[in-house]
Amino acid sequence: MTIAVKQLHPLFAAEVTGIDLSRAIDREAQRAIADVMDRYAVAVLPGQRIDDALQVAFTGLYGPLETAPPVRGKHGTATTGLRIRHKEIFDVSNLDENGNILDIDDQRRAYQQGNQLWHTDSSFRQKSATWSLLHARVIPPDGGDTDFADTRAAYDALPDATKARLDGLVAEHSIWHSRAQLGGYAPTEEERKARPPAHHPVVRRHPGSGRNALYIASHASHIVGWPEDEGRALLRELLAFATEPQFVYSHRWRLGDLVIWDNRCTLHRATPFASATHVRDLRRTTVIDTRTEAMAN
Ligand code: OGA
Ligand code: MN
Repeated sequence: MTIAVKQLHPLFAAEVTGIDLSRAIDREAQRAIADVMDRYAVAVLPGQRIDDALQVAFTGLYGPLETAPPVRGKHGTATTGLRIRHKEIFDVSNLDENGNILDIDDQRRAYQQGNQLWHTDSSFRQKSATWSLLHARVIPPDGGDTDFADTRAAYDALPDATKARLDGLVAEHSIWHSRAQLGGYAPTEEERKARPPAHHPVVRRHPGSGRNALYIASHASHIVGWPEDEGRALLRELLAFATEPQFVYSHRWRLGDLVIWDNRCTLHRATPFASATHVRDLRRTTVIDTRTEAMAN
């Protein structure tokens, strides 16, 4: 098979065909995907017939994997690991541990709803993430697209005065900041302690391309050392700019799509679907950015 790359948006995102992840891939294909990612930041690999174990193994070619945190279910118990055995798989579905659609009042629904805010995965961890890989196992007939925004292009398009103003700024990110904005997931004291905030520069250099990218969005609450409202206003203004339509690619899912995005230079968000009546079952793996701690202030 020959590998072919087709750009999906004027600025970023590409579809990659000619790779079959149900078999072991060679170094050339492994490298080709890394090159596409450095250039396009979002890669769509259609028609992949992979299970959890294959997804975990493929992701592992690109670095250490995050493990999914426990999320409380309807009866207050942490439910990770019950429906999906692999601890490296994030359950991005509207299903409970028995494979039934989550009840309307289930806390996991509230937690997932936070994904509808623009964000970048794991910015709330001091060791943040490089790539996320999301595989479509079951998709609803309508809705549930995923939107992506190009934060390298957004940075490039900022006025020079704004770029100068951002130089050296550090933002605080917390999962509980984003969860407080949408869905109303109420963390326990123990959960809060287990997932403390993290600090990251607002502008970070993307290693694979050498380009600067904005590193912001729903987990980012304020600018360290600034009055909270001023920092919040700046972050809000940057986010509004970075998610203007010219920077956004919307992905309409097909069964078997594996979409890879670079969390260092894109933002993404889920969009609504009829989640009380239709199943959407996507599985995510995420690569830890082992370089972030060194870059943090
Ligand atoms: C994620 C995520 C968006 C979606 O898995 O990290 O934000 O559309 N998913 O499910
Ligand atoms: Mn996400």
